[in-house]
Amino acid sequence: MGDGVYLLTTNPGLEDIVEIELREQLRSRVVSVYDDHDLDSIAVERKPWGMAGTVLVSPPGNVASSGAVRSGIEDALLRMRSVYHIVRHLRTVELAGNDLMAELLAAVEETAIETLSPDDTFRVSSKRSGTHPFRSVDIEREAGAVVQRRTGMSVDLEHYSVHVRVDLRDRLCTVGLQLTRDGLDRRWQWQYRPRVALRTVVAYGMLRLARLENMPGCILDPFCGSGTILLEAAAMFPQARIVGADKVLECVEGARENILAAGLDSRVSVEHADARDLVEEWPAGSVDAVVTNPPFGVRLGQKTDFEHLYDRFLRGVEHVLRPGGRAVFLGGKRRHYVSRVLARVRGLRMKHVRVIETGGVYPAVYVLERITDDPASRSEVSEADP
Ligand SMILES: C[S@@+](CC[C@H](N)C(=O)[O-])C[C@H]1O[C@@H](n2cnc3c(N)ncnc32)[C@H](O)[C@@H]1O
Repeated sequence: MGDGVYLLTTNPGLEDIVEIELREQLRSRVVSVYDDHDLDSIAVERKPWGMAGTVLVSPPGNVASSGAVRSGIEDALLRMRSVYHIVRHLRTVELAGNDLMAELLAAVEETAIETLSPDDTFRVSSKRSGTHPFRSVDIEREAGAVVQRRTGMSVDLEHYSVHVRVDLRDRLCTVGLQLTRDGLDRRWQWQYRPRVALRTVVAYGMLRLARLENMPGCILDPFCGSGTILLEAAAMFPQARIVGADKVLECVEGARENILAAGLDSRVSVEHADARDLVEEWPAGSVDAVVTNPPFGVRLGQKTDFEHLYDRFLRGVEHVLRPGGRAVFLGGKRRHYVSRVLARVRGLRMKHVRVIETGGVYPAVYVLERITDDPASRSEVSEADP
């Protein structure tokens, strides 16, 4: 393991989306300095060492050793929308003995940490999961002392030029240099951001699952909240008309403020409307994709309300989608109510379901497709990873 190997972080369940976006980004950004063949030889491993929510990118030695290509790759990585952080990966050690802290510090000691000038300052941060006899701040303090002694850099927690990451998942210790300062998901100036707002990386992943490769005309989010999906859709599809709606006036006004702050108000509109009324309010077949995050479970309370809401919503989706158009929505991972509703809504079929993790909860992403009346196409299809 060494120069030019990168560990990318995302939501568990979206690792395949990271690989797809990564290869696209490399093609569009790095191809001019390196030929296609070498780009294809860049190895991408989803969930390396069993770490859900991470993707390891390893260019072959000849690619990694070229400074121009390396900075091209880093430039491509830093533009990704499916990723939170990018860490230049330096070392992985499986801690085997009883004194975990001593072994971890030895791993840091043996890692060559590149400094550009004697004036460089650094900080160490640590993400830790599992049971250990110490806390993340203990790792940060003790590993910080090792780095200081080894490199001569001084610590600056605010204005650092080198960000050392020493993470520990159970017994797996990874050491690297974090290239991202704020997460790459912090890409919008939020004026209004309710607690239930969707993370931008998840919104991006859902839009990718809608498979809108051919420029879509119209994308609808009928439960838009603060407008995360609307903003991501507008960034991804500059030609499309993006429409959101919410039944709560505060959300409508908040989403409009967010859209205005992003300078997207000429292409994105938000209505004050109920997602149960799509049949009455939209022309049939007028939408290419419905991508949305309805309320699920916790605060709706009774199961009967829930199924009723989904029944009305999915009948509306069947009505507004063009044939072949997709609906992607986040819902509870127990799919029985979706399956029950789909048994009644004959123009939609399930293409794909996956469970993701976001903020400590495990919802499912459902992907449905609008079909015609051909009975042969009714059966539920489990689509492979895109
Ligand atoms: C989980 S939140 C959506 C969060 C949003 N994706 C964001 O990033 O802010 C669900 C939204 O659905 C809205 N909602 C609930 N029932 C609705 C209905 N029948 N019609 C339209 N909106 C509804 C709520 O007001 C809430 O804003």
